[in-house]
Amino acid sequence: MTSQEIRQSFLNFFRERGHTIVPSAPVIPHGDKTLLFTNAGMNQFKDVFLGEGTRPYTRCADTQKCIRVSGKHNDLEEVGRDTYHHTLFEMLGNWSFGDYYKKEAIAWAWELLTKVWGLDKSRLYATVFETDTEAETLWGTVTDIDPSHILRFGPKDNFWEMGETGPCGPCSEIHYDKTPDKIGGKLVNAGTPDVIEIWNLVFIQHNRNIDGVLEDLPQKHVDTGMGFERVTAVMQGKASNYDTDIFSPYIKWIEANSGIAYGSSEETDIAMRVLSDHVRTLSCAIADGALPGNEGRGYVLRRVLRRAARYGRKLDFRKPFICELSSIVVQTMGGVFPELKERREHLFKVILGEEESFNATLDRGLSLFDEIALREEESESPFIGGEEAFKLYDTFGFPIDLTQVLAHERGLSVDMKKFDELLTEQKNRSKLVHASKKHREIATTESVDVESKFTGYDSFEDAGSVLLASENLVVLDRTPFYAESGGQISDTGVLVVDGNPFHVTDVRKLGGAAIAHIIEGEGSAISEGSRAIATIDRTRRYDIMRNHSATHLLHSALRQILGEHVHQAGSLVTENRLRFDFAHYQKVAAEELHNIEELVNDKIREAIKLQHHRNIPFEEAKKMGALMFFGDKYGSSVNVVDFGPFSREFCGGTHVQNTSEIGLLKLISESSIASGTRRIEAVTGRGVEKWISDQMTQHDVLLSEREQLEEEKRKLEKEIAKLKINSRKSEAESIIKSTSLIEGTRFNAVATEVRAANAEEFKSFAELLQSTMGDGKIIVLGTKLDGNASLIALVSDDIVKEKKVVAGKLVGLVSEVVGGKGGGRPNFAQAGGKHPERLTEALSKVPEFIRAMSSQ
Ligand code: ALA
Repeated sequence: MTSQEIRQSFLNFFRERGHTIVPSAPVIPHGDKTLLFTNAGMNQFKDVFLGEGTRPYTRCADTQKCIRVSGKHNDLEEVGRDTYHHTLFEMLGNWSFGDYYKKEAIAWAWELLTKVWGLDKSRLYATVFETDTEAETLWGTVTDIDPSHILRFGPKDNFWEMGETGPCGPCSEIHYDKTPDKIGGKLVNAGTPDVIEIWNLVFIQHNRNIDGVLEDLPQKHVDTGMGFERVTAVMQGKASNYDTDIFSPYIKWIEANSGIAYGSSEETDIAMRVLSDHVRTLSCAIADGALPGNEGRGYVLRRVLRRAARYGRKLDFRKPFICELSSIVVQTMGGVFPELKERREHLFKVILGEEESFNATLDRGLSLFDEIALREEESESPFIGGEEAFKLYDTFGFPIDLTQVLAHERGLSVDMKKFDELLTEQKNRSKLVHASKKHREIATTESVDVESKFTGYDSFEDAGSVLLASENLVVLDRTPFYAESGGQISDTGVLVVDGNPFHVTDVRKLGGAAIAHIIEGEGSAISEGSRAIATIDRTRRYDIMRNHSATHLLHSALRQILGEHVHQAGSLVTENRLRFDFAHYQKVAAEELHNIEELVNDKIREAIKLQHHRNIPFEEAKKMGALMFFGDKYGSSVNVVDFGPFSREFCGGTHVQNTSEIGLLKLISESSIASGTRRIEAVTGRGVEKWISDQMTQHDVLLSEREQLEEEKRKLEKEIAKLKINSRKSEAESIIKSTSLIEGTRFNAVATEVRAANAEEFKSFAELLQSTMGDGKIIVLGTKLDGNASLIALVSDDIVKEKKVVAGKLVGLVSEVVGGKGGGRPNFAQAGGKHPERLTEALSKVPEFIRAMSSQ
C-alpha cells in the first residue's frame, strides 16, 4: 500500500465504526498556554477530556500533524541520528469521548492491524500499564494475540501524559518486531529501531493539575495515536522510515542536488535525514502561522532551521536550498493539509529569508571565532570562555560540537561548565514566553489580571478608561472592539486617548478576559487611567455581521438540504466573504447548491428578527436546541444567536438585527479540503454587489474581445476573398471575351451566373471585372447566396457618359424579375431578390433591357 492508501484506509476503518472524520488542528495550538506546538492528536480535544467542552459527536478520528521539539515530548536531538524519530510526524488517531472504552479500542486496533492490513501477528507485542489488569485481560480475550506477547511496563512507558499538566492515563502500546528472526520480545521499549512502538492506546481518566496531583475526570475516554511514518515503514517492509514513499522524494532531491548518494557515509546519511525531516516541520509550522524568531516558538523554529542549514553544509549546500525543498512538502502533503498549498509562496519566502540571514551569520560567526581564538592564543591561559561559546551558539547558531572541533584544531579547550549553565538558563526561557513586546506573543501567552467588558453587540462607539498600555497595545475597561474569535475576524477602527488618535489594526484577547487593541504608533506614552473613545469601523463591521449571520443561515440550510450529518468543521468570517468548512462526504451537486442558496435567500427575505440570548446557562441553551460547534469551548454561561426557528446556534460573534439586513447571499465556490470535509465560500450584501460588478466587467471585457475578433474575422474574409478573386482572373477574362453585340445597340454585353462563397467574394469578383473590362461593355453578374439572388451590373464609363444605359437602372430592371430591387452608381450597381430560382430567367432578359434603355 502507498502511504496515501494507508492513511485513507485508517480513516475509512474508523468512519465505518461510527467515527466522524475531523481535520488536523494547526500545529500552533491556539489558546493553550501549556504548549508551544501541537504534540499529539488529542490536544484539540483537551477541553472535552477535562469536561470543559463538548463536541457534536462522541467518536472521531483524524490525522494530526504533531511537532515534538520542545517540552515534555522533545525528539529533536534523536532526529536524523536514528531512522524512526521525527520533529514532525502525522499521528493517526481515534477517540471516544465518554463513549466506548478499552475493549473496543483494543479489539479495533487489533482488527485493523491484523485483519485489514494483514500484519504478521507473531511480530506484534502489546504492552499494558503494570497495574492495568483489565487491559491485560482484554488483550487475552478480545484478540488472538500470542499471550506471551502481552507485557507489563511501568509509568515511564505505559502512563501517558500530554505535558506537565493536563489529561492523562494508563496506556497500552502496540510494538512491531522487525528483527529477522523474530527475537524482538526482549527489545520492546529498549529504544532500538528493530522493535518500535507503532500505536498507543491511551485510556484517559485523570487530569494532572498544576500541583502535580492526579485528579479523576468525570468520564473515561479513549485517545489513540499511531505513528503514520512508522506504520508505513512496517507496511512497506522498510527498515527505516526514510526509505518509505513519504520521505524518498526528499532523499532523491537531495541526492540529485548534492551529487552524493544516500548510503555513502553515516555522516551524509544523517544530514539527508535531518533535512528531509526538518523541512516538513518548518513548512507546516510556517503554513500554520508561526515565524522564526528570538523567543518561544519562533526561537525553536529558528533552531530547527539552523540545524537543517548546518547539516546542509555537510552536503556542501552553501546557498539557500531548504526553501526549494519545501516545495516537496507542498506537493506531497498539500492534498491532506491544504494550508500548505495556500501558503506555499509565503513559506518559501520565509524560509529563504531565514536561510540567507543564517548563512551570513554563520560566516560572521566563523570570523568571530577566529578573532577570539587569535586573542586567546596570545593570552597566558588560553581557552574559549563559556559566554563566548554560548554567544557563538545562540547568536551565530554554532553547535557546541563545532566550536569544540574548531577550538581543538587550534589547541584550545572550551569552558563547557559555564556553557551548560547558560544553555539551561536559556532553555527555561524558551519554555514560557512572558510578557513580550510583540503582540503575537502576548496574545497567546500573557495572562493579565484585568478584565474588559465587550459592548460591541449594541454599540459601535464607547468611552472607557485605559487599564493597561504598552508599546503597541492598549486595554480598556469597556470597548466595542471585537477580538477575533469563533472564526469572526477582529474589528479595526480608532482609539482617541487624551485627544490623540491611534489606529487600531487588530484586537486580541489577553488571558481570556482582557481585550487588547493593537495600535499603530507609540502606545507606551499612554498612561493608565486615561480616558479613551473607542470607535470601530462600522461599515466594515456591518459587512462582517452580514457574513456572520449568513454563515448561520447557510449552516442550517446545509443541514436541511444535505442532511443532519453536516456539522461545522471550521469557519472564517471577514468583511469580504465567508468561508464555511463542514463534514460531508461527497461533492455538493450543482442542484443542491442552488437549493441551499435559494433557501438562505428565502430566509433573508423572510426578515427574521434576531433574538440574542446573552449569558444564559449552558443547559438552557442546549434545551433550546441550539447547535454547538466542533472546536469551540463553552463556559457555564453562553450566548445563543437565534434566528428561530430556522437557525439557533451557540455563538459569541456579532450579528445583524434582522436577516433582511444581509441583503442577498451568493455562493461562489464549493470544494474539498480534506477527505470528508467540504468548503463553501460565499459573499453577502455589498460583497454581492461587488461580485456582480466584477462579473459584469469580465463580461464586458469578453464582449469587446469578441467584437474585436469579429472585426478581425471580417478583415480576414475580405483578404481571403481578394486572394481568391486573383485566382479567378482567367475566368474574368473569358467573361469579358464572351460579351457580344446586342442587336440594335452599339454595346457588347454579357449576363451570366457565377459562383461566390459570400457577398464579399461576389463583389470582389465584379470589381476585378470592372477594372479590366475596357470600353463599350456591359456586364451583368448573378449568383445565389444564402437562398437569395444577388446581382451586379457593370457599365463601362464611355457608355455611362451617354446617360442612357446606367448600371443602377439596369440592375433595378433585372432584379424586379427575381422579386427584388436595387441600385447604385452608374457604372457599378448591386441588387438582390427573393427568388433565386428565377435568376436564369432574369439574366436572359438583360439584352432586352439594354435595348429598351438605349433606344430611349
Ligand atoms: N496521545 C497519545 C500519544 O501521543 C496517543 O501517544
